[in-house]
Amino acid sequence: MTALESERDWSATWSARETVARAPDDPGLFLALAPMDGVTDAVYRALLTEQDGGRSGVSLCVSEFVRVTRHAVPAHVIRRHCPEVDTEGRTRAGVPVFVQLLGGDPEPMAATARRAAELGAYGVDLNFGCPAKTVNSHDGGAKLLKEPHRIERITRAVRDAVPHARPVTVKIRIGWDSGETIEEIARAAEAGGATWLTVHARTRTQLYKPPVHWHVLARARAAVRALPVIANGDLFAPKDLPRCAASSRCRAFMIGRGAMGDPGLFAHARGWKTHATPIPELAAILRDYYARMRGGGLNEKRALCRVKQWLRMAAATRDDIVWLFNHIKVMRDWVPADLALARVELGATAEELLALDRAG
Ligand SMILES: Cc1cc2nc3c(=O)[nH]c(=O)nc-3n(C[C@H](O)[C@H](O)[C@H](O)COP(=O)(O)O)c2cc1C
Repeated sequence: MTALESERDWSATWSARETVARAPDDPGLFLALAPMDGVTDAVYRALLTEQDGGRSGVSLCVSEFVRVTRHAVPAHVIRRHCPEVDTEGRTRAGVPVFVQLLGGDPEPMAATARRAAELGAYGVDLNFGCPAKTVNSHDGGAKLLKEPHRIERITRAVRDAVPHARPVTVKIRIGWDSGETIEEIARAAEAGGATWLTVHARTRTQLYKPPVHWHVLARARAAVRALPVIANGDLFAPKDLPRCAASSRCRAFMIGRGAMGDPGLFAHARGWKTHATPIPELAAILRDYYARMRGGGLNEKRALCRVKQWLRMAAATRDDIVWLFNHIKVMRDWVPADLALARVELGATAEELLALDRAG
């Protein structure tokens, strides 16, 4: 594709961004919610996709990874990671959810994928990007980026095990310590029969450090013309999408941490909203999040930790939230945290919260 054709292609996608594409090459704009272990569980996925009365703008969700070692993972473990298998593989708001698997052995990976599909998974995603040391030292995640032929074998085994109508997708980083082998890795995913490929535009050794290398994705895209490539990494605001598209030549995107700072980011990027989620609205969302976690059986301490974790990640992407994180992070019980968030929901500022605290 020439630069001019690529520009036309992007301008057609961007002008149709109000249409929620369910697959990267469907008409409209494809915006997936990234899997984040310990964050994007079923409670979070339900909450996010129910924003704005279910008009969240999220195309697709991916579960936190299910670790596959020597044997096929039992059904109850798959269900724990992805309870949506019981509702036709969709969140209550109707957004499809893929089950993500992480492992290095084709056979148990294929058997687990088959089981996930039988249970009702909408699709299966394969994680070859996890940078965790414990995972990598046990033959999983980003370690496989050093052995593209194994990515191909695992993808093919899973593809053969899952009914054709269910997508089997692959998620990678650009490489282990450089982007030099991106073409080889992308071709391995394609040869294995992946339906599409998502690339976090960093190396394994970078972990989450800057810079993000969107331009390397253009090489993956050129190497696998028929395989859609989804760009991921540092998409924190709507303006980042056209920048990423110009550099990566990708037309479809996955967003993770940006949704913590702006849970309305998907709708915002589609032009359904004119600004990022205001802080009072975010406070209301966090109170809803806490209530949902408690309703799901999480104890107060852990649910409060999750609220703090959300605020910490949000504050890393949005400076105007730092004060709220600093205020909540020192709280040991939910009651004062809830009171503070309720006040913020009604419009209290940092100074007003501090003054109210001092007044007792
Ligand atoms: C706390 C955390 C947990 C993550 N867990 C997973 C995971 O389970 N599976 C996966 O493929 N990627 C995982 N990722 C990577 C994200 O899916 C995504 O690739 C990365 O955060 C870059 O996208 P972003 O800049 O939009 O957040 C995780 C990221 C974070 C921050």
